[in-house]
This record gives sequence, C-alpha cells and structure tokens, in this order.
Amino acid sequence: MGILKGKKALIAGVASNRSIAYGVAKCMHREGAQLAFTYQTEKLKPRVEKYAKEFGSNICIEMEVSSDDGISKAFADLKSTWSDFDIMVHSIAFAPTEELKGSFIESVTREGFKTAHEISSYSFAAMAREAKSMLNQHASLMTMTYLGSMRSVPNYNVMGPAKASLESTVRFMAADLGPESIRVNGISAGPIKTLAAAGVSGFRSMLKHVESKTSLRRNVTIEDVGNTAAFLGSDLSAGMTGEILYVDAGYRNLGMNFDME
Ligand SMILES: NC(=O)c1ccc[n+]([C@@H]2O[C@H](COP(=O)([O-])OP(=O)(O)OC[C@H]3O[C@@H](n4cnc5c(N)ncnc54)[C@H](O)[C@@H]3O)[C@@H](O)[C@H]2O)c1
Repeated sequence: MGILKGKKALIAGVASNRSIAYGVAKCMHREGAQLAFTYQTEKLKPRVEKYAKEFGSNICIEMEVSSDDGISKAFADLKSTWSDFDIMVHSIAFAPTEELKGSFIESVTREGFKTAHEISSYSFAAMAREAKSMLNQHASLMTMTYLGSMRSVPNYNVMGPAKASLESTVRFMAADLGPESIRVNGISAGPIKTLAAAGVSGFRSMLKHVESKTSLRRNVTIEDVGNTAAFLGSDLSAGMTGEILYVDAGYRNLGMNFDME
C-alpha cells in the first residue's frame, strides 16, 4: 500500500464522519497522502478539526462556495501553508429540501434551480480556477456525482439537472486542463446515508430498493468510494481523464429491476 505517498490532497466537503469526503480522507491517508480540509461554516470547524487530527493534519480552512470571494479566500489561506498540491476532492452539493420531494415541475423554483447548480456544479470549476496555479504536474481533481444525472430518480428532482451539469463540467475541465497534465474525473456513488442524502425524501426506501436489486445485493460504503478516489488521485489512473466512474454495486447496468417469475 502507499499509492499516494508524497502527494498532498485538499478535501472539501467533510461535514460528519458519515460524509463521503470523510471516507475519501480515510483512504487517502491510509495510502500515504498528506491532507488539508475545508469546512463550510464556523459551526463545523471544531468537528472538521477533530477529523483532520485523526488523519494527522492541522490544516482546516473555511470555504463557503456560494460566493467567489469565499472560494478565493480559502485558496489564499491554503497558500499560506502549502505552496503546491496534487489532489483536489470536491464533495459538495446543496439544493433546498422542499425541492427534493414530489413532482419535479411543481417543486422546482428559479431560485432553487440556480442554487443547486451554483453550489453543486459551478463551485467545482471555480475551485479549480483558484487551485490551478498551485497544482503540481500530474495533479488529479475529482468530484462526487449520482445516477440522477442520467435517469429520473424519484424525489431527486432539481439535483438531477445539477449533477448532469457537474458531469459536463468534468468533461470541459478535463479538456481544459489536460494539456497541463492535470486530470479531472467524477465518481458516481450509489446511495449512502449522509446528512445531504437525508434531505432527499424517501431516501431510506431508496437504500432498501438498491440493496435488494443491485448486482452485488448491497449498498456501497464511504470506504468503497474512498478507495476509488485514492485510485483516481494516484498515478495508477494516469491515463484517465474526463471520466465518470460508477461505484454503485452495479446498479447503473440494470435494465429490469423486478423479480422475474
Ligand atoms: N450520499 C449519497 O447517497 C450520495 C450519492 C452520490 C453522490 N453524492 C454526492 O457526494 C457529495 C457529498 O455528499 P455527502 O453525501 O457526503 O453528504 P454530506 O452532507 O456529508 O456532505 C455535503 C457537503 O457539502 C457541503 N456544502 C454544502 N453547501 C455548501 C456551501 N455552500 N459551501 C461549502 N460547502 C457546502 C457541506 O458542508 C457538506 O460538507 C455531494 O456532491 C453529493 O451529491 C452523495
């Protein structure tokens, strides 16, 4: 083990020890990466500092992505400790809870649509722009997405178009940064019980459905996603960019999810 030895990774999106970003941090730390963390608000600071300590890091920076200033200030803060880094993990999404239930066209609002896209998709490109001058050659950037980008999943509603936008953003960023040997990919994770997921109405039924129908007959864990993230951050994936990797226990491949007679 140790595929990330000598690499520095910035991880954005830890809110609890159930966060996908926490699973990513755990696996990247195990593989030898040095870590830095961002947290969204002052309220989350003590918690994220505690997790950072668990992973041998004392770099915790506030980053609220709803404004460009919030993003540029975070990277200026990072620069005071790290002059360069190799991996950037974007594990951030938000849409108003009222828009994550029932009919899509009845629940979606102009403001909610804008917010979902800004926080969940635009922020990845904005972070990359700020990070660019600090990224080492062969750097790897990654984000977290979901099948709702491609299929109409009940209650996922406005997050679906936001994730479709995020996946397109991955491809444009990959084309932009590729000539500088910087790679950009996404991981499409199956449903996992986290704070963000709890905002999607009927999420528990979703977990049960996936567990009973998906090829591996189980839900995925934050460690499953973290291990794939470690691979994407490492030179083992050096030939891959602009890809969306599915860590969903095989769900995406299923055409018929009911039991045949
Ligand atoms: N949990 C799932 O089932 C699942 C499946 C596929 C993809 N994802 C994606 O994984 C990513 C991480 O989500 P999670 O499930 O770990 O939930 P989580 O609630 O643990 O993490 C979401 C993070 O987004 C951050 N965030 C939200 N708005 C922000 C803002 N304005 N500025 C800065 N940070 C902000 C939160 O602080 C939090 O750390 C999201 O992109 C989510 O859509 C989740």
